[in-house]
Amino acid sequence: MSPPAITLHSVRKAFRSVIAVQDVSFEVHAGEIFGLLGPNGAGKTTLLRLIMDIFRPDSGSIQVFGRHFLKEDKARIGYLPEERGLYTRQKVQAVVEYLVQLKGVPQPQARANTLRWLERLEMLGVKDRKVQELSKGNQQKIQFIATVAADPEILILDEPFSGLDPVNARAMIQVIQELATGGKTIVLSTHQMNLVESLCRRVFMIHQGRQVLYGNLEDIQKAYSENSVIVRSDAGYSHCPWIARAVANGRGTQIVLSDNARPRDLLAWLVETGAEVESFERAKTPLEDIFIKLVQE
Ligand SMILES: Nc1ncnc2c1ncn2[C@@H]1O[C@H](COP(=O)(O)OP(=O)(O)OP(=O)(O)O)[C@@H](O)[C@H]1O
Ligand SMILES: [Mg+2]
Repeated sequence: MSPPAITLHSVRKAFRSVIAVQDVSFEVHAGEIFGLLGPNGAGKTTLLRLIMDIFRPDSGSIQVFGRHFLKEDKARIGYLPEERGLYTRQKVQAVVEYLVQLKGVPQPQARANTLRWLERLEMLGVKDRKVQELSKGNQQKIQFIATVAADPEILILDEPFSGLDPVNARAMIQVIQELATGGKTIVLSTHQMNLVESLCRRVFMIHQGRQVLYGNLEDIQKAYSENSVIVRSDAGYSHCPWIARAVANGRGTQIVLSDNARPRDLLAWLVETGAEVESFERAKTPLEDIFIKLVQE
């Protein structure tokens, strides 16, 4: 396995009396879409700025590409900051080309990449408009384009979907998935839990500067689930001895097992009664429920 793309070890960062990040450690694997979650003010942006070497940690260490941050690595990392900073009187294409060249891409290549990405995200029609004349969402698309068009190996995206309509959000999601499939590493901070569920295999959740969740999302969701399964079958459950509660939902029947029962007891019962079982899976608690539970605790 290749070394982690990003490693944080026991990182701490305070702003005077505010401890923004405390004892944070995690790894981002090369080629994954890693979700960074947490409520407002939790420390997400601070973490991303620490990774980008905009802030230095008070203690602990951060490695990118398996070593301490080197200046020349900056060109290999694309950063979509939380503050959208493209208000400019320059024209769209010129701005993107300029930003891509700043990342060390030679001019002809920068132009080709710019035009390709403008087209890909259906922004070619505004290439000669001034950036400041575009709507907020479209300015954000331009900023995203400027980030990906330099073809960085790691993408650090701070709330990339905020302010986008569903069509544009979906287009950006598709791009992010394709980039990851092509081997790029993506760190994504967002409040949109449904997107995290569909995009990320691993997540880190921070709350008041500290880790509250870290790891494989599916494992986390299962760990937070009560003793329940989702079953699609033609069985009638009223005589089953193992069931505390059964509620039909869109994906079948969600069955909460009685305390002493395990999923395999129910499965054995289904087989015994001769039921036709189409699917049988361990229920997962929605990430949003886990998030709210952790924040309220
Ligand atoms: N430059 C700074 N100077 C002083 N305090 C800061 C600075 N940057 C962040 N903080 C503080 O650090 C804490 C974490 O802020 P941060 O911006 O990292 O949160 P966040 O998780 O990104 O929140 P949001 O979801 O609202 O963007 C907050 O208490 C914030 O006020
Ligand atoms: Mg933030």
